[in-house]
Amino acid sequence: MRVLVTGGAGFIGSNFVHHLVGQQDVVVTVLDKLTYAASRASLDGLPTDRVSLVVGDVADQPLVDRLAAGHDAIVHFAAESHNDNSLTEPGPFIQTNLVGTFCVLEAARRHGTRLHHISTDEVYGDLELDDPQRFTEATPYNPSSPYSAAKAGSDHLVRAWVRSFGVKATISNCSNNYGPWQHVEKFIPRQITNVLDGRRPKVYGTGTNVRDWIHAEDHSSAVWTILQQGRIGETYLVGADGEHNNLEVVALILEHLGRPADDYDLVADRAGHDLRYAIDSTKLRDELGWRPAHPDFGAGLARTIEWYRDHESWWRPHKAATEAAYEVKGQ
Ligand code: NAD
Ligand code: TYD
Repeated sequence: MRVLVTGGAGFIGSNFVHHLVGQQDVVVTVLDKLTYAASRASLDGLPTDRVSLVVGDVADQPLVDRLAAGHDAIVHFAAESHNDNSLTEPGPFIQTNLVGTFCVLEAARRHGTRLHHISTDEVYGDLELDDPQRFTEATPYNPSSPYSAAKAGSDHLVRAWVRSFGVKATISNCSNNYGPWQHVEKFIPRQITNVLDGRRPKVYGTGTNVRDWIHAEDHSSAVWTILQQGRIGETYLVGADGEHNNLEVVALILEHLGRPADDYDLVADRAGHDLRYAIDSTKLRDELGWRPAHPDFGAGLARTIEWYRDHESWWRPHKAATEAAYEVKGQ
C-alpha cells in the first residue's frame, strides 16, 4: 500500500509514519512544507526505501494532484496547529487548514484516492468542569478559536465532498496528544524543557483547565484502524480517558524531575481559553475494536519526560525563539 502522509514531519504525522513503517507493509510519501513546526530529524532512522519526503505545500493543487495519482491513500495531518499562534496571526490557519484541505479533497476526488482527514475535538468547543457529558460524534460544532474554527470548516468540507462528489473519506477527531517529537511551543514539552533548563513551568490563568490526554502512538493506531476498517463518510472520535487539569500535569512533571511541587508560575491566560475537553470514544471501540495501548497517562508522561531528557539536540534549536515569543505576551 502506498500512503501519502501530509504533515508527516510534524508531531503526530511523524509518530504516525514511525508507527506505520514499524508495523505494516507500506510505502510512505511525506508531503510537508517544513514550517517552523516541522523537523526533518523526526523522520531520522526510517528506511529510505520505504519513506520519502516531498517538501511542498498542501495548497499547491498541481503538486497534490500529482502525488494523489500515485498513492492508494492519503492521511491528511498537515495543518497550522497551535491555538496561541492562531490568536496572533490567523491567516496561515485559514490558508493551510481550509484552502489546503480543499486542495487535498479535489485531488482525492479527481483520482479516486481514499482519504482520511485528521481533526480535533476542539471543533466542539468546551465543556463545564462538572458536566457529566463528554463529546460524541453527535455533539454540535461550536469552535472557539481561529484554529478550531478552521479545523471545523475543514471537517465540513470533507463531509460535503463525500456527499456531493462521492469522495471516499473518513474523519477522526482526537483529543490532546502527547509523546515524542512534539514542538516545545505546546504545553507538555514546554514545561518539561523549561524544567530541564532550570526555568519554572508557565501555567495559563488558574491552571484548572482540563485536557483529555492521549499518547500519539495510540492516536496513530486509531488512525490506521479507521483507514483500514472505517465506514466511508463516518466520523470517529479518538480518546483514551485521560482527563487531567493543567496543574496536575505540571505537578507530575515537577515530581518526576525532582523539583518542589510549587515551583511553577501562573501567567497571563489565553484569550477565549477553552475550559475542558473530554472524549467519549465508544463508537471507535465498539465498531472497530480499537483500544489504547498506553492508557496509563502517568507512565506515558514519565517516558515522554525521559525522551526529552535524552533528545536535547532535537528540541534545543526551537527553544530560545519559542520562549522569546511567549515572553513578549507575558506568558
Ligand atoms: P504540528 O504543528 O506538529 O505539525 C504540522 C505539520 O504540518 C508540520 O510538519 C508542518 O510543516 C506541516 N504543514 C503546515 N502547513 C503546511 C502546508 N501548507 N503544507 C504542507 N505541510 C504543512 O501539528 P500536530 O500537533 O502534529 O497536528 C497534526 C494534525 O493533528 C493537525 O491536523 C491537528 O489539527 C491534528 N490534531 C492535533 C492534536 C494535538 O494534540 N496536537 C490533537 C488532535 C488533532
Ligand atoms: P496546548 O498544548 O496549547 O494545546 P490546546 O490549546 O490544543 O489544548 O495547551 C494545552 C493546555 O495547556 C491549554 O489549557 C493551555 C495550557 N497551556 C499553559 O497553561 N501553559 C502553556 O505554556 C501552554 C503552551 C499551554
